[in-house]
Amino acid sequence: MGYLWRSFFKIFIVLFVFSTCHASDTDNTNPKTFLVFGGKTGWIGQKLVALLQEQNQIVFCAESRLENREEIEREIVKIQPDFIINAAGVTGRPNVDWCEDNKQATIRANILGALNLADVAYLHNIHVTNFGTGCIYQYDSTHPMGSGIGFKEEDAPNFEGSIYSKTKIFLDKMLLVYPNVLNLRLRMPISSDLHPRNFITKISRYQKVVNIPNSMTVLDDLLPIAIEMTEMGVKGTYNFTNPGTISHNEILALYKQYVDPQFVWQNFTVEEQNAILKAQRSNNELDVTKLLQLFPDIPHIQDSMHNVFKKIQLGHVGN
Ligand SMILES: NC(=O)c1ccc[n+]([C@@H]2O[C@H](COP(=O)([O-])OP(=O)(O)OC[C@H]3O[C@@H](n4cnc5c(N)ncnc54)[C@H](OP(=O)(O)O)[C@@H]3O)[C@@H](O)[C@H]2O)c1
Repeated sequence: MGYLWRSFFKIFIVLFVFSTCHASDTDNTNPKTFLVFGGKTGWIGQKLVALLQEQNQIVFCAESRLENREEIEREIVKIQPDFIINAAGVTGRPNVDWCEDNKQATIRANILGALNLADVAYLHNIHVTNFGTGCIYQYDSTHPMGSGIGFKEEDAPNFEGSIYSKTKIFLDKMLLVYPNVLNLRLRMPISSDLHPRNFITKISRYQKVVNIPNSMTVLDDLLPIAIEMTEMGVKGTYNFTNPGTISHNEILALYKQYVDPQFVWQNFTVEEQNAILKAQRSNNELDVTKLLQLFPDIPHIQDSMHNVFKKIQLGHVGN
């Protein structure tokens, strides 16, 4: 009977892996097991799952909801992951303004849920990589726009213009208490496709855009590094963007150069933008010295953006 149960359980696990994230080939000599929250439907989560599969890691997309602690615990006990990645969270649809009308749901997922996961993983001694945000700062007199003086990891957040950012500030602070957590602060993520969540796609579709230099995360450069940091067992908070800044107009000029020569756009001021939004948007530069100490070859955002557009151009022409 015991044998039958064990066989049934093994078959179930194999079927489960194939039916969710698909098990990788095992020609990776030392594959690790990753449990990815947000891996099933999330933009960044799905990209991580694809990268992990390319590396022939063993990947599971989490089924449990972040607010359900018992479900999380059951899933962790069942899968026994070496690493957990949290790329889940409420981000709002069509955009972050949604969170202003759904504050409790935003808190439930982004604070209570994310802390549930970190805490259950802590109790099981499992490393968690959390995809957080650097949209918790705004330029100020000690970090003026264009100065090159970025906010460091330990600087106190100074942007509370949205409930989304407020939840992320709270989470960012609480995660520091967990010795099993790596917290990566992304900003305005960019990918080499025209996915609707790609910052390039977003601003190319707006009727009017502000024009402010910002730190941004090129996912092509940084997601492989996130996986490497996870496997290295790195912990603590890291500003997780490319070095340097790029402005909206610089990006749209590249869009015009590489994608659509007829493209035109209109600027407006932050005040005019605030008048049409429910939630304010953060603009800042992050200091990435700490990240560059580990990965000195991360390209400057201005260089990386040319590479991104070259890849987009290839894909665009191919479509
Ligand atoms: N994209 C950005 O601009 C950006 C910038 C900085 C940081 N981040 C952070 O990076 C993370 C991933 O962002 P993304 O752009 O990939 O977001 P996304 O495309 O909106 O994906 C969010 C994922 O989280 C899942 N999720 C939401 N609430 C959940 C819950 N309570 N329990 C379990 N799963 C839940 C969603 O699953 P369902 O579809 O099943 O709800 C979805 O898979 C988020 O935490 C986000 O705040 C994103």
